[in-house]
Amino acid sequence: MGEIVDKVKDKVNEVKDVVVDTAKSLPNIDILTKKFALELNGALAMENAGIERLQTRIQEVSIPEAKQRMQQHIEEGLAHQKRLQQLISGLGGEPTLDKLGLPLPLYPQTMAEVMKNTLTKQEWELKRSEEDLILENAEISCYFMLIQKVQMVGGMFLVAVEPLSLNMKDEQNMADWIRTHSPGMMAQLWPKILSAVATASSPTSSPTPTQSQ
Ligand SMILES: [Fe+2]
Repeated sequence: MGEIVDKVKDKVNEVKDVVVDTAKSLPNIDILTKKFALELNGALAMENAGIERLQTRIQEVSIPEAKQRMQQHIEEGLAHQKRLQQLISGLGGEPTLDKLGLPLPLYPQTMAEVMKNTLTKQEWELKRSEEDLILENAEISCYFMLIQKVQMVGGMFLVAVEPLSLNMKDEQNMADWIRTHSPGMMAQLWPKILSAVATASSPTSSPTPTQSQ
């Protein structure tokens, strides 16, 4: 997955040489500029929401390395915000302070209810980590598509490729970090999960033959 950024950069260099500068031939550059500023504001709203979520996640997570990595990713997110704000202002747009509704799974109500009543603290921690990975991949997808669009339009919009690629690279590194560290995280949390399962199914908590009749 870490190769995506390099591939995109190579592709950009390729495209730079051959791209038809469609921006020059478009009838209304103002509309195109506004559309692009809107797209960038969408990415900024995603970063705004992502940083807020990470601040909450740092409080929740029990594993010190994860806490540290999240703190680093907040710093990266702040740099992402600045890059996007500069691009948006450069296009005459107003950088948003709004936050995107994050693309997280919304389980069916009955399933969510069972999870709420049965999952242990450690299982929730793994579930949140799964959500972290979903979000990082969503951020990668957002930047990936934005870069593709910039390449298609070409012209003055190509200045956005580098900052967007830098942002995407950080997201990719964070996703890779979560993936690489998930076995260690599971190894730390699993004994407590198993012990909770063992307690729940131990003979003392099972109904006696008399009780089950
Ligand atoms: Fe991220």
